[in-house]
This record gives sequence, C-alpha cells and structure tokens, in this order.
Amino acid sequence: MDVQEVLQWVDELVLSNKGKHLTNLQQAVLLGVWDSQRYKEIAQTYRCSEANVKKAAIALWDMLSEELNEKVSKSNFRSAMERYHIGASIVGDCVHSNVFQGNINVCRESQTSAGTPNERSPSTSNPDKVQAKQRHDLTDAPERAHPFCERTEELTTLKQWVLEENIRTVTLIGLSGIGKTSLALELVEQIKQNFDLIVWRSHQKFPTLESLTTNLMEFCSQHQETQLPSLIDYLSAHRCLIILDDLQETFSRGELAGTYLPEYRHYGKLLKQLAVNPHKSCLLLLSWENPIEIATLEAENRHCRTLQMNGLGNSAREILQERGLTDEDKWPELIDLYAGNPSWLKIIATTIVQLFNGSVAQFLSCPTPFLGDLDSLLLEHYQRLSESEKLIMLWLASHLGLQLTRKPAEFTFSHSDFLKAIQSLSRRCLIEKTAEKGEPYFTLQAVIKEYVRDKSL
Ligand SMILES: Nc1ncnc2c1ncn2[C@@H]1O[C@H](COP(=O)(O)OP(=O)(O)OP(=O)(O)O)[C@@H](O)[C@H]1O
Ligand SMILES: [Mg+2]
Repeated sequence: MDVQEVLQWVDELVLSNKGKHLTNLQQAVLLGVWDSQRYKEIAQTYRCSEANVKKAAIALWDMLSEELNEKVSKSNFRSAMERYHIGASIVGDCVHSNVFQGNINVCRESQTSAGTPNERSPSTSNPDKVQAKQRHDLTDAPERAHPFCERTEELTTLKQWVLEENIRTVTLIGLSGIGKTSLALELVEQIKQNFDLIVWRSHQKFPTLESLTTNLMEFCSQHQETQLPSLIDYLSAHRCLIILDDLQETFSRGELAGTYLPEYRHYGKLLKQLAVNPHKSCLLLLSWENPIEIATLEAENRHCRTLQMNGLGNSAREILQERGLTDEDKWPELIDLYAGNPSWLKIIATTIVQLFNGSVAQFLSCPTPFLGDLDSLLLEHYQRLSESEKLIMLWLASHLGLQLTRKPAEFTFSHSDFLKAIQSLSRRCLIEKTAEKGEPYFTLQAVIKEYVRDKSL
C-alpha cells in the first residue's frame, strides 16, 4: 500500500462528505504525517502557519475517525490506514473492500441511501444493484454557506416538486446574491440519496452547449456498459439530478429577459426537450432570469416549475450575528432595507464594521440606503435591460408605483410593449408586484430604487 492510494481514498471521502476534493494543504498534511513529519515541518514546507496546518489536520482526523469508527489522529493515522487496508482484503464488505479502489463514494452512498418511505428512491427494487451505481459529482459547485440561514419553506417546496411530483425542470430565479446557489447546495445535500447520479455544472466552466452535453453524457456513460445515443436516453435510464448554474450567461444584454445570445439559441431546444419528453431525471436551473421557453412551458406543461427567490427575512440575523454587529433591535430594519439579500447584507455588514464599529443604529441614522460596494453588483443587472425596461425603471425610481392600466404618458412605446417590458422586469426579479385597491401595483425595492435614482442624476 502506498501513500498515493491513501490520498486517493481520503480525497474521495472528502468529496463524498463535503462535495469537494482535498485542498493542497490537506494533501500536504496527509503526506507529511505519513512521513512522520511534525506539523511545524509541514508548515515550513507548505509555507503557511502551523495553526493553519493544525486546523486542516484536525478536520481530517475528525472525518476519518467518524468514517472508520475509531479515533484517528496524527499518531495513529498511518497504522490505522494500513490496518484498514489489510482488513479490506479480508472482510470483502462493500465499504471496506472498495476503500482503496477509488469506490468509497459509491459505497458510502449505498450505506445511507435507504431513503424515507415517501421519498422516491432509485433503489427500491434491488438496492444493492442500483445503489452501487450512485455517483455524485459536485466538484464544480462552490462551498456551502456557513452559517446557512434557514430556507425551510423553499426547501419544502423544492423537495415536494422534485421528490413527490417528479417535476423534470425546476428553475430557481433571483437577483445576484439572493442565494440560489446556496439553496441548491442545501437541497442537494438533503435529497442526494434519491438519485443515481448527481452532477453540478456551471455555465462558466462549460460555456458551449456542445461542451456541456458532451461532458454530461461522458459523466452518465461511466455508469453503464453500453453507450447511449443522447443525453435524454441517459436521463431515462438513470434517475439523475443535473444542476446547471449561471444560466443567465446565455442571455443577451439590451433585450427582454430570457432572450438567448445568438451562439446559445440551441439551449432553448435542449431545455424544451428535457421538459417535454418523458424521462426520470430532474434538471435544476439557476439563473437571474427565466428562459423564455421555460416561462411558456410552465403555463402548459406540468413538468416545469419556477421558484422565484425572495430575501431571507428574520433568519438573516445569523449573518449579522456572525459579523458581530450590535444594536439587535435595529436588525429587522436593516434586513428589510436590504431586502434580506444575503450577499447585500454581508457586504453592508462589512461596511458597518469598518466605518461604524458594528453599530447598526449609527449606520441607519445616516441617509439610507447606502449602496457602497453594491453598486457594481447592481450595474450587472442594469446593463442587461432593454431600452423600454430602463425607461420604466427610471420612471419607477421617482414614483411610488405603477399600474398596468395607466401607462404613463412619457412612454411613447405601445401598450403591448409596455406590458412586455413589465413582464420582463418581473422575470428578472427587478420589480415587485403588490396590490393597490385590488389592482396589481409594481414597485422597486429601496436599494434598487436608490441605484436607479443615482444613475439618472
Ligand atoms: N441561506 C443563506 N444563509 C447564509 N448565507 C447565505 C445564504 N444564501 C446565500 N448566502 C450567502 O450569500 C452569498 C450569495 O449567495 P449565492 O452565491 O448562493 O447567491 P446566488 O443567488 O447564487 O448569486 P449569483 O446569481 O451571483 O450566483 C454567498 O456568500 C452565500 O454564502
Ligand atoms: Mg450562484
């Protein structure tokens, strides 16, 4: 047995537990400890502090102890690994026999994948056979949020759609930083046992439809002997969950929401095919705006759903707590002002710490909302708008709200274009719909209003 085998096994263990590969520092710790080096020596070789090495080591020992069901530490790491390696060849049990053959992920899933009776499991008829096929690749996903503020309602809805109603295409839409990626990560964690295959891909990494579908088919094809002709064949053969993040990158700027850039126009066909044709998998799309065909299909096809994400509400207190802000009685006002957007709150909390020593009361006593570093985030959204959408936003920035039946005289475009622009702004989550005397009434969130007002000066 050599250290490379151990590294590979621990790497797969970390991947299955955390959805990430070993970091360079964690690898350095394992290699160093294997060679009986002290933490100080590892730190010198790796050029980092001894405290960082210790922290990485403790996390690894905790995970290995839990996995092997015995206390693993620096002093017994090597002997524990060697013992398990010998045990593996004798015992022949799924977990141990595969421990050093790169299959730990598969077998760990098999241990935990019984699922609750209500959950649709991929493995009800022949657990051993199907569970052995489980494989989850979250290497392209970012880390999960810590602390993760509750999203109970959203998670319940999503689990209902995916597990109970077998919805084929679920789209999470919302402004940048609202928490789409974080929510999807949490969902995956909670439902992963129900899928044979899970794969997370970001548009940033697979910027063409061809590279994306080829990669997805390659991933799926590792789980069966015969190659299948198309992605949908794989999605029919296995229960797969595909998460496609940052879909907004496929859409044009300066046009209504969900209009593909010319080079991505084929995306629409694929999305439509996956929503309309029968298969047993689920595609989870994360985007700033809803693709047009999904919005249309949703109206006529019961296998498509969209969840528009709102702010965090009171659970966002955890973010402020973690940043060490004071004046707790003012936190609801701050959360409300920044619409519960976790990213905005994190950015503003940093400003409050830096400029106001953490005092939320002092911050709120200044003219608000203060935008600071939010400016560049909002610019990204603003630059995507069509001319008619910009005009409506500018108008809304200096008025209380807008009713559909009363198109302001300043707008020279037709009523039909007016409605299209409002619908598009709504699909981008940039305007909010309330009711005024029973009639829909569209308004801007305070932060967005301030941004657009600034722009118009
Ligand atoms: N429920 C949550 N609890 C705590 N922090 C959160 C939560 N949701 C999101 N965050 C934090 O807010 C930031 C933005 O979250 P996330 O990346 O999930 O947003 P997003 O909607 O995917 O944004 P984008 O569209 O720009 O990709 C991250 O720092 C994340 O850790
Ligand atoms: Mg994201």
